[in-house]
Amino acid sequence: MYVCICNAIREKDLRTAARCCGGSAEAVYAALGHTPQCCQCLDEAEDIIAEETMTGSAALSAAA
Ligand code: FES
Repeated sequence: MYVCICNAIREKDLRTAARCCGGSAEAVYAALGHTPQCCQCLDEAEDIIAEETMTGSAALSAAA
């Protein structure tokens, strides 16, 4: 599924980049070589990035 139509960013690619880079949607888009265009996807992208960041933090806490 595409999260960002303007940049053809798929959810799985966004999740992978979020785990590697984290930060704001704009930062993760930049890591993928894109910049937001219409910005209608940013709320959903932020939610997905937050999910991945929390998942990574929870995994690190469990491993400690
Ligand atoms: S849908 Fe992502 S910038 Fe337009």
